[in-house]
Amino acid sequence: MNNNIYLQGNYAPVRNEISEQRLKVTGNIPKDLSGLFLRNGPNPLSVLNEETHHWFMGQGMLHGIRLDSGNALWYKNKSVDGNQSVANTSVISHAGKIYAIVEAGSYPVEIDEELNSLETKPFYGNKNEGFTAHPKLDPRTGELHAMCYDYANKFDTIDYVVIDKNGSHKKTQTIPFESRSMLHECAITENYVLVLDLSVTFSLEKLGSGYFPFSWNDEHQSRIGLLDRNDESKDVKWFEIDRTYFFHTFNAYEDHNGNVVVSATAYDRLFDKDWNGPFTESPPNLTRWVLDLKSGNAQSSKLDERSVEFPRIHPNFITRSNQFGYALASSNTQQPDFKEIIKYDFVNDSSEVYQYGPGNFGAEPVFVAADGGTGEDEGYLLSLVYNHETDKSDLIILNAQEPSSGPMATVHLPQRVPFGFHGDWISI
Ligand SMILES: [Fe+2]
Repeated sequence: MNNNIYLQGNYAPVRNEISEQRLKVTGNIPKDLSGLFLRNGPNPLSVLNEETHHWFMGQGMLHGIRLDSGNALWYKNKSVDGNQSVANTSVISHAGKIYAIVEAGSYPVEIDEELNSLETKPFYGNKNEGFTAHPKLDPRTGELHAMCYDYANKFDTIDYVVIDKNGSHKKTQTIPFESRSMLHECAITENYVLVLDLSVTFSLEKLGSGYFPFSWNDEHQSRIGLLDRNDESKDVKWFEIDRTYFFHTFNAYEDHNGNVVVSATAYDRLFDKDWNGPFTESPPNLTRWVLDLKSGNAQSSKLDERSVEFPRIHPNFITRSNQFGYALASSNTQQPDFKEIIKYDFVNDSSEVYQYGPGNFGAEPVFVAADGGTGEDEGYLLSLVYNHETDKSDLIILNAQEPSSGPMATVHLPQRVPFGFHGDWISI
């Protein structure tokens, strides 16, 4: 028995790849949800050293649930067969193709609607370097924006990459970036791309001892950079902020004064004492920064003391002022209990909670807009739930307008889906 919690319980890998047809459903699946819910995460089947194992390590495994006209047609899980790429963090669909994706130099792996990994080159083969786990799709242009790093090969630069709406590489702009900060995400507004140069940086010490090679760095001043989306000749405009790290933003946008507003689930400290995972040193809290372009100053405010991660919004509101956001919440304990979903109303400064219930542990709530819906919260929240007693998972579907009223439908899966990272809904 090992002591690494990221190899135990529902963090442990799933050993079998299975497929089951006609899943049992409690409640009624909305008929406009026709498509594929896909979730990616690490599935470390072979671990060389249990002591140094980190939650972020291991080959990607996809779990897929196919819904059609009110029926749950099937569940499957398959390892991502990436040929050199672990592709274990997220999954996106873009320009009619589906990709398993990861950061730090590894390639996206194209997959088909049956979860098979394909040998085709990502983005029609015209981008020959690694990508990111969190590209941002601009709903106005259909372009994907990504901040990409590969510190094994590019020591002091990152690449800002744009993939066009047809799925081809459009441009790469190289940006000086000496900190080697762990650049998990970016954010976009109408006119800017945000460069997140935060206080977790590449660590040779950890790499040398076999650990995940990023560490909290008190010496590194956190800062957010604004890069002009339309003018490559302009330098990044930097705003210093209190030392922090966040993996995930809710959103970013420009307000009436032309200031840039960005909100995220931010940690005061992580990867400092705990070298295996993120949650034990400080809880991630909803935090907002306003970047004043005239003064060059940033103002921060912590908006909630609850521990929240995996934020999602209606994808059409990326770059625009958004009223609603959804996140997975935990008690402020040493290890997260993933006990509820919080729906934030940023306009009315209020929130609503859906509790998964005793013995249940949730996952990222993915917002899917209802067919023909026009309201920002008119749609569904899809979330996997692990039940400790049965040692299996369900997919629940909540009405995003009133998540506290409980699932409209629960799709019962034949096995558990480990605590992993990100999913997406692919309309078919
Ligand atoms: Fe992420």
